[in-house]
Amino acid sequence: MTTAEVRQSFLAALNAVGSMDELERIRVEYVGKKGYVTELLKGMKDLSVEEKKTFGQEVNVLKNEVNEMISAKREEIHQKELEEENNKMPEFDISIPANLKRGSYHPITLVQRQCEEVFKSMGFAVEDYSEIVTDYECFEALNIPKDHPARDMQDTYYLDNGQLLKTHTSAAQNAIYKKYKDALINEGKPIKAIFPGRCFRNEATDACHENTFFQMEGVMVDKNISISNLIFFMKTMLSEVFQKDIKVRLRPGFFPFVEPGFELDISCLICGGEGCPSCKHSGWLELCPCGMIHPEVLKAGGIDPDEYIGFAFGLGLTRLAMMKYGVKDIRDLNSGDLKCLDQFTDDK
Ligand code: DAH
Repeated sequence: MTTAEVRQSFLAALNAVGSMDELERIRVEYVGKKGYVTELLKGMKDLSVEEKKTFGQEVNVLKNEVNEMISAKREEIHQKELEEENNKMPEFDISIPANLKRGSYHPITLVQRQCEEVFKSMGFAVEDYSEIVTDYECFEALNIPKDHPARDMQDTYYLDNGQLLKTHTSAAQNAIYKKYKDALINEGKPIKAIFPGRCFRNEATDACHENTFFQMEGVMVDKNISISNLIFFMKTMLSEVFQKDIKVRLRPGFFPFVEPGFELDISCLICGGEGCPSCKHSGWLELCPCGMIHPEVLKAGGIDPDEYIGFAFGLGLTRLAMMKYGVKDIRDLNSGDLKCLDQFTDDK
């Protein structure tokens, strides 16, 4: 082949190239060790000195042209590949304003905060406690020994190491007594604390039962505490939260960790006391079991029951939220359904 023929066939081949692989094949074919251009140079040995000079120059020009065109093609293919890659990505325009809705607090968080404010204003400390507790904290220290029938109502989720997900916020009572007892005994400071928390039970769920729910426990221990103190604090809290007087009733209730024990019910605010699924058609809702702390429970907390006395209550925060916001089915609160949950945004 002549120089002109090699150039022509190279141009045709280059034109047809569509990928880096093809390009590399052509490079080897023309300017590789055994390529057409290299072969042209090898053919020079039979030429005269004069011819060698002109022909040599010609071939070198061709070789440079070929190399340059291959580089240019390589860049072209590279750009095309980048473009294709970019086209695959979704369009992103930083100047478009974000159209995100602001989040809102969960109704239970809102009610919890309101209760905390009310109790803080009455001198109570707000405490937090673990969701994983020991059998001792959840039962034994609360006067519920192994095999006590009260345990049947509080089946829960157990960990391999014997610990469990707390079935009630009462599980923190023992730790609270131990934390504050020295100030009570040595400085005469009454124990006044509330401790909200998430609780768990192995429950069959329905409109008013869930396996995960919130309670808020409260305790007060001092020298002269009576049931009237308990009733006063409960009524104050309810009228603050609902911003109106709420009909309540107190009836006897049994809990091993209080003596005497009560059920504090409020008139169902969903049906106005007429009866509906939320109140099991009774018109009343058990909202806040309570009572005077059992001497054994005080003793387990390191407090002498002959000298001190106190009350405890376990407010159903989830129930309270349902009443306050008119949520008919407890399961909606854990559903993560924003249609239900984000109605409370203005209440922040
Ligand atoms: N821990 C009890 C429960 O979840 C509720 C309770 C009853 C708490 C009486 C109290 C109390 O502090 O005094 O069933």
